[in-house]
Amino acid sequence: MNKQLRTVINVVEPQTVMEGAGVRLKRSIATATLDNLDPFLLFDHFGSKDPADYIKGFPMHPHRGIETVTYMIQGAVNHKDSIGNAGSISSGDVQWMTSGGGIMHEEMPQPGQDEMIGFQLWVNLPARLKMSQPRYQDIFADQIPIVTRADGVKILVIAGEVDDVRGPVTEIEADPIYMDITVPQGGEFKQPVARGHTAFAYVFEGQGLFGSNGNEKAINHPRLVEFGDGDYVTVKATDQHVRFLLVSGKPLNEPIARYGPFVMNTQEEIQQALEDLRNGTFVFSEAENK
Ligand code: CO
Repeated sequence: MNKQLRTVINVVEPQTVMEGAGVRLKRSIATATLDNLDPFLLFDHFGSKDPADYIKGFPMHPHRGIETVTYMIQGAVNHKDSIGNAGSISSGDVQWMTSGGGIMHEEMPQPGQDEMIGFQLWVNLPARLKMSQPRYQDIFADQIPIVTRADGVKILVIAGEVDDVRGPVTEIEADPIYMDITVPQGGEFKQPVARGHTAFAYVFEGQGLFGSNGNEKAINHPRLVEFGDGDYVTVKATDQHVRFLLVSGKPLNEPIARYGPFVMNTQEEIQQALEDLRNGTFVFSEAENK
């Protein structure tokens, strides 16, 4: 079968929402128009020069059944969690947090910054891993390989592989691609994405042409672009550069029961999560020693 270019099947305008203790976000997955893109459950873009939009942060809160991926473009967030991790995520760093059966964490922006720009993605876990041990991959900016092609296309490889360069995030069930790509004016980017995997781009700077030849869509930032199935994606930049995240992953095709920071398969499991929180049995026993 011939290799097929993925077409654009949906373009989503982010919605402004308030989250955490009062953080203003642009949300494009987990809204009334797009509940999820299996296995992706939520996608938030935070970006502001006004501390009032972010300084209240995300005080201590639980997660169960998912992974949360935080990627900072600019600024710094202090974090700590119930399995003993603490530190800061700053410009260019990634935190890939697997909540498994239970983690409590907080993410608080540092005061006194010029600008905060970053993203949070939620990746679903399959039923058999929803109650697994929490796990945490802290990737610093200097550990993220940068592929610069002859035509000037620049690719930060966080997860997945491009031009034989593999990203540092490993052993993730969704077999994800997570890349930050800049295509200069007049350039073109082409990337294989496994057939059957869900794929989207999130455009956050400039403008580009997304999708197949002859059926391309001009997309201006900020927009989430959902690709249909196929073997690879292409993005062209014409009269200005375009910068976007390319994200893909293997769909789970399992029932989704979600309630705030918990995403399980059934309502009974959600009730159990709430009960565990009430009873103080939510986080894993190892954490109680810390
Ligand atoms: Co969280």
